[in-house]
Amino acid sequence: MNKNNIIILSIETTCDDTAIAICKYSGDSFIVLSNVISSQIKEHNPFGGVVPELASREHIKNIIPVLDQALKEADVKLGDLNYIAITNKGGGLIGSIVVGVETAKTLSYLLNIPIISVNHIRGHVLVSMIEKKDDKKYSIINPIYPMMALTVSGGHTQIILIKNFIDWEVVGKTLDDAAGECYDKVSKILGLGYPGGPIISKMAASGDKTKINFPRPMISSHDFNFSFSGLKTAVLYEVEKWKNGKMEKFSVEDICASSQDAINDVLTKKSLKAIEKYSPKIFILAGGVAANKDLRDRLKENIEKNSDSKFMIPEIPNCMDNALMINIAAYFNLKNNIDIFDYKDININIERKI
Ligand code: KG4
Ligand code: ZN
Repeated sequence: MNKNNIIILSIETTCDDTAIAICKYSGDSFIVLSNVISSQIKEHNPFGGVVPELASREHIKNIIPVLDQALKEADVKLGDLNYIAITNKGGGLIGSIVVGVETAKTLSYLLNIPIISVNHIRGHVLVSMIEKKDDKKYSIINPIYPMMALTVSGGHTQIILIKNFIDWEVVGKTLDDAAGECYDKVSKILGLGYPGGPIISKMAASGDKTKINFPRPMISSHDFNFSFSGLKTAVLYEVEKWKNGKMEKFSVEDICASSQDAINDVLTKKSLKAIEKYSPKIFILAGGVAANKDLRDRLKENIEKNSDSKFMIPEIPNCMDNALMINIAAYFNLKNNIDIFDYKDININIERKI
């Protein structure tokens, strides 16, 4: 691989964001030429969650304008691109992924350039392996194995042991709802809107987390698995009692703070337990819920105090779904010479495998 001046255009459409980024790599340094996201939050907000069919329709509407904008901001022409990167595995909504994959295949066919296939979860994790030099310039940080990642998002909650670039083993996962889903459902129960995580964390800042002692499901189980559906139900019952005036006085902010505390408590304790067992050199917090300030602070403090692992997290705007994370994961794939395809061989692998 000629490591100088490689331009990758990446596409991410697995859920409710239509995103395209263009980066130029030279060795292990790169410049973000453009990083465009068209969010569908406004469309899904009235329903309290993502409506899959609506998401597909919005992607179809937005993908070409986002592509045009990404090329324009990057000041590159289609002919300047060396690779197309696409998220076609690691979970997501099938109708949404179809739009991104078909766009990637068409570009690859027309431009006669290869497609790099990217796993969505690997994208969330690998976007933390960069260091900002200035506004748009970054360098890639080399992994030191074993690493470990807690990936917490609307669709997944996993603890992953990363033994080397190829071998990623899920050592713990949610048995029901994902952590982000729990944030979203608590917000829905309280009538606060979608996505719930950012709203709950903002309101929690002025609440008292000791007001309600919500359950910490599976916190003491002898594995690294999670369960969040019971916590969601506990919040529902408390809110119903509260609405019927049967509870002592507490505010919406107190419910937000207490539920956030319960979710983050479980995530932190389980992570520490996994670190104790596997002694990773680097521990990464990744996924949309990684934007949660309380979780970031809590994990950082505990990991630095109780282990020798280096704690790494993406910058907050890079935590939620975006195409920059797909671009960086694609570069790692290219460096390791894996998952590079001809357009004819690209399909959708909806399995949540990493
Ligand atoms: O990674 P992401 O953008 O999409 C998926 O792959 O699912 O994650 C979205 C999830 C949503 O559930 C959202 O509520 C949650 O991340 N989230 C947060 C915060 N920001 C986003 N959860 C807690 N605190 C936040 N600040
Ligand atoms: Zn995601």
